[in-house]
Amino acid sequence: MTILVTGGAGFIGANFVIDWLAQHSEPVVNLDKLTYAGNLGNLASIANDPRHHFVRGDIGDGALVARLLNGHRVRAVINFAAESHVDRSIDGPAAFIQTNVVGTFGLLEAVRAYWDGLQGEEKTGFRFLHVSTDEVYGSLAPTAPAFTEQHRYEPNSPYSASKAASDHLVRAWHHTYGLPVVTTNCSNNYGPYHFPEKLIPLVIHHALASKPLPVYGDGRQVRDWLYVGDHCSAIRRVLAEGRLGETYNVGGCNEKANIEVVQTLCAILDELRPRVDGQSYATQISFVKDRPGHDRRYAIDAGKLERELGWRPLETFETGIRKTVAWYLANQDWVQDVTSGHYRDWVERQYGQAAP
Ligand SMILES: NC(=O)c1ccc[n+]([C@@H]2O[C@H](COP(=O)([O-])OP(=O)(O)OC[C@H]3O[C@@H](n4cnc5c(N)ncnc54)[C@H](O)[C@@H]3O)[C@@H](O)[C@H]2O)c1
Repeated sequence: MTILVTGGAGFIGANFVIDWLAQHSEPVVNLDKLTYAGNLGNLASIANDPRHHFVRGDIGDGALVARLLNGHRVRAVINFAAESHVDRSIDGPAAFIQTNVVGTFGLLEAVRAYWDGLQGEEKTGFRFLHVSTDEVYGSLAPTAPAFTEQHRYEPNSPYSASKAASDHLVRAWHHTYGLPVVTTNCSNNYGPYHFPEKLIPLVIHHALASKPLPVYGDGRQVRDWLYVGDHCSAIRRVLAEGRLGETYNVGGCNEKANIEVVQTLCAILDELRPRVDGQSYATQISFVKDRPGHDRRYAIDAGKLERELGWRPLETFETGIRKTVAWYLANQDWVQDVTSGHYRDWVERQYGQAAP
C-alpha cells in the first residue's frame, strides 16, 4: 500500500512525509509543483529513502494524478498542496483560486474516477484527507468562544475564501458521490522548515541579521499556535480513525498575541545567541502598517478530536518554540539557501524551468 501526499515539499507536507517515513514502512508518493514555497531541501534527510517517490506536478493535472494513483495502487490521499500565504493572496489572488479551488476540483475528480474503479476492501478502506485552516471561520471577538466545527464559514481574505471553497468541494464530493473524505481545519503551525516569510521564522531570521522585526499594527492579533509535529500526529490519527464526511479542528491550545510571540522569540534568542552589543533583540521590534482586513483573533476548539480520537498536542508553546528556535540556529544553511533563493536555482537546473 502507498499514500499520495500533495504539497509534500512545503512546510507542513515535508514535516508530514519525514515523520511518516520515520514511523511507517508504507511508501509515499509526493506530488508537488515546486512553487516558490516548495523546497526539495526540506526533504534532504530522506533523499535516498527508496520509499519516497517525489514527482513534480500540479494537483490539477488529472492525467498525472490518475497515473500516480493507478501506478502505485494508492490507498489514501493527503492533500496539503495550496497557495498558503495571506499577504500574497492580497497582492495576487489568481494563483489562490487556480490551485486551491480549480486544482482541488481537478484532484477530486481524478481521485473519484480512481476510487470508482476500486473493489472490496480497497474501496471501503480508501481515504481522501483534506488539510484546511481555521481561517475559513473568520475572525473572533476577544472573549468569544473558540471555533468549533459548527462555526459558520466567514472567510475574510482571498486565501481563506479559496480554502473555504475547497472545503465545500470536498464536502460535496462526499455527499454527492460518496467519496470517503475527512477534512482537518488547523490553527497556525510553527516548527522546522517554515518558510521565512511567515512570522516566527521571519523574526528569527531578521533578528540574527540585525534587521527590524516587523509587527503588523498594534501586534495584538491573537493566533492559536500548533507545533507542526503535533499537527502531523493529528493528521495520522484522523486518517486512521476519522469518521467519513466529518471535519476535525486541530489546535495547539496556545492562544498568543503576535507581539507576545515576537517578545518570546527575542527572549529565547537573547539566551541562546546573545547579541554582541549585549542589548536585547527586542530593541529591533518595529511596528508597521497593518495588513488590510487583518483578522483580529483565531482560536480553535479541538475538543471533538480529543473526545472522538483521543488526540492532544504534546508540545506546549514554551517547549515547541524553544525547539523551533534551536532548529533554526542549527540549520542556518537551510535558511541561507531559502532566503538567497538558491533553492530555486536548483529547481531551474533540475527541471529547466523556474519555480512559479
Ligand atoms: N502553515 C500554517 O500555519 C497552516 C495553517 C492552517 C492550514 N494550513 C494548510 O496546510 C497546507 C500546507 O500548508 P504549508 O504551510 O505547508 O504551505 P506551503 O506554502 O509551505 O506549502 C505548499 C506546498 O504546495 C505546493 N503546491 C502549491 N501549488 C501546488 C499545485 N497546484 N500542485 C501541487 N503542489 C502545489 C508548493 O510547491 C508547496 O510545496 C495548506 O493547505 C494550508 O492551507 C497551513
